[in-house]
Amino acid sequence: MDRSFCIAPMMRRTDRHFRYLCGLLSKESILFTEMIHANAINRNEPERFLNNSGISNATVLQVGGSSPEELKKATLIANEFNYSEINLNLGCPSSKVQSGNFGAVLMKDVNLVKNCLTEMIKVSAKEVTVKIRLGVDDLNIYQGLDYFIEELSKIGVNTFYVHARIALLKGLDPKENRTIPPLNYERVFQIKEDFKHLNVIINGGIGDFKMAKDKFKKLDGIMAGRAIYDLPFKLFDVDHIFYNSTEINNNLISVINEMFEYIDKLDSKDEIKTKFHMLNLFKGLNNAKKSRLLLLSNEKNDKIKNGLKDIVLASENQAA
Ligand SMILES: Cc1cc2nc3c(=O)[nH]c(=O)nc-3n(C[C@H](O)[C@H](O)[C@H](O)COP(=O)(O)O)c2cc1C
Repeated sequence: MDRSFCIAPMMRRTDRHFRYLCGLLSKESILFTEMIHANAINRNEPERFLNNSGISNATVLQVGGSSPEELKKATLIANEFNYSEINLNLGCPSSKVQSGNFGAVLMKDVNLVKNCLTEMIKVSAKEVTVKIRLGVDDLNIYQGLDYFIEELSKIGVNTFYVHARIALLKGLDPKENRTIPPLNYERVFQIKEDFKHLNVIINGGIGDFKMAKDKFKKLDGIMAGRAIYDLPFKLFDVDHIFYNSTEINNNLISVINEMFEYIDKLDSKDEIKTKFHMLNLFKGLNNAKKSRLLLLSNEKNDKIKNGLKDIVLASENQAA
């Protein structure tokens, strides 16, 4: 799998509707689901959580949990769906997640993490990977992190997505934990230096993709989250920058048409979610504000679709 460009897992954002939109904007980007707890997969109807139909980009299922048995069961279920990889979340700092003993807090317990991953690897039809932070609280980001990575690599984990900052579990909320601990890209370069045989994908604060391709060329890929959700049309450039695609893909009109074809098949709850994910698609165009009002309105879909197309065409005409 060529992980040159990955779209980060984001709760309430990278659901299948947003992933569908991303797939229209970039055919090659690797997509991630939101984190889905193993219990949700095991207890409820899995189709509800794991449906990835209509998406042809390679997609990584991210799971959360800390029970080896539950994670094994969820992995077996996930084998039946069209995911390219299964990823264990070891980086989420939310207090809810901490109290459930999963996410970033697990980085403090390498043996439990190894037990979880061993069970997943035993049964998974796909590669099992992890998403980590550089450290958690007082875990030493040098020897402590090296030891953690070394131990996971011994049981067969070969791919590490690294959010290039530590998480502070007490005192900072998840949002603060994505901004206050400083980014430390050098430490990620060092991981690759020390573990050349592992795939290391860097994440955190990456917004200028052209620059990133060069800056992080020693690594195995980059992962961007907020930059994509806030400005999804940036994905138009990704296939060209990272995958040498010569196909020019920048046609917002066809994206609008395909999104509304997709929306027409959804129930009303999913329709609202999908339109919400489109709110940032027109940022930067003249009349972008009107596009947001249209997407939030109760107008008929045909009217919204045509209104959006008019905004795009007017903006293109003005630029010409
Ligand atoms: C709204 C939101 C939800 C997130 N949910 C998850 C998640 O479910 N799993 C995960 O590993 N990281 C999650 N993250 C963290 C991102 O994957 C990423 O590591 C972080 O935003 C830093 O990358 P960025 O600077 O490119 O956004 C979330 C981030 C945001 C903004």
